[in-house]
Amino acid sequence: MNLTSSPVQEISGDTICPGDKSISQRILIIGSLLNCDIKITGFLNAQDPLSTMKALNQIGGLINNDGDLVEIKKRSRSFYTSESPIDLGNSGTGIRLLTGFISGLNLQATLIGDESLSKRPMSRVVDPLVKMGKKISTNDGKTPIKIKGGSINDNFEYQMPVASAQVKSSLILASLSSGNSIQIKEPRVTRDHTEKMIEYYGGKIDVQKSSEGKIITLNKSNLSEMPSYEVVGDFSSAAFIIVAALISKKSKILIRNVGLNKTRIGLLEVLQKMNANIKIVNPRKTCNEICGDLIVESSDLEGIQVSDSIIPNIIDEIPILSVAASFANGQTVIKNASELKVKESDRLKATSEGLEAINIKHDILDDGLIIYGHNDDVCASKEINSFGDHRIAMSFLVAGLRSKDGIIVNNCKNIETSFPDFCNTMNALGMKIHG
Ligand code: S3P
Repeated sequence: MNLTSSPVQEISGDTICPGDKSISQRILIIGSLLNCDIKITGFLNAQDPLSTMKALNQIGGLINNDGDLVEIKKRSRSFYTSESPIDLGNSGTGIRLLTGFISGLNLQATLIGDESLSKRPMSRVVDPLVKMGKKISTNDGKTPIKIKGGSINDNFEYQMPVASAQVKSSLILASLSSGNSIQIKEPRVTRDHTEKMIEYYGGKIDVQKSSEGKIITLNKSNLSEMPSYEVVGDFSSAAFIIVAALISKKSKILIRNVGLNKTRIGLLEVLQKMNANIKIVNPRKTCNEICGDLIVESSDLEGIQVSDSIIPNIIDEIPILSVAASFANGQTVIKNASELKVKESDRLKATSEGLEAINIKHDILDDGLIIYGHNDDVCASKEINSFGDHRIAMSFLVAGLRSKDGIIVNNCKNIETSFPDFCNTMNALGMKIHG
């Protein structure tokens, strides 16, 4: 599916941020383990959370979805082994978190995914789970992941070799679902929704912060039942709306109900250093997550050197940050971001090819990008290849508003995985994106 984004001068109005993808997936998993009736509002009805929902139902979960409300129902029997492979589609979070969760439940399972997911590294979760006592095989570190047996050891200690919330969460969920304790040392801070949700449900989770990072300890926990859960908006989706307003010529918009968890909003800090005009209003707490509304206005952005330590907190936003940097005066340097190579696509290569297609001068490094921005509208010399990656597709569609003759982005179908209403939302604010 190709989409074209045409130039516009102004976007305005207000919009509600779509539900958080990471939190939507976690509440399905942790909510199913709780085994009580839970009504979930604000859920992200997008392909990735839906893959996780289907997978949980395949092992005995009872989750209904009528489009507006998602309901987890109390099960009358335990989870069970699925005869057929569990397909997580495009969802890295789904496959990695469920590998841990199912390992802890002592079920056998084969987990698979789509073409993109089949190329992504799975040893990062399988190796520690094997150290924890499980018997799991992979195809040379890739899918299918076959969980064959073994059981999770108590009091496992693990130092994270890679900054990954999916790995951390997978191991925590393995311990939680097996009724064990675990301690994880995390030198570089990653998103902490799993910890926050376990704490919300009364789990015994302790987080110590030091100059060497975090030490997360989960002690054997019985979670408390609660009848409802409200998912806050996804900052990573809001990022596209924020950058669209910032780089356009005369915009002012309000984005309501944006998740503002500290481990997710690194991009706000980076953009504010770039001279972005973004204000947080009405900050509040919903189900142990901070959220608020954002007012964003057109801004004359300046290039900056992005600090290495913030990279894990902006990892999903680097493609859209690269678009912001393209319209900022001067040089923006992003380093220490080689994790981008193992996302839904090789996002370093995909971003670089996109920048090249819109004639933005840049250098591609082994672990980052140096972008030489300017404040002129761009001319696309060819179609942008999204490599089937939702965040690449949405980033370059946003760039289209500052193009002279429009930008065509190919293979946009996977926008459905995280922000299915992207085109309608952006067009309601004044963008012109069409098929
Ligand atoms: C996610 C963690 C991040 C992020 C991904 C979602 C999660 O990956 O890129 O989109 O929900 O835990 P890492 O595991 O690399 O942190």
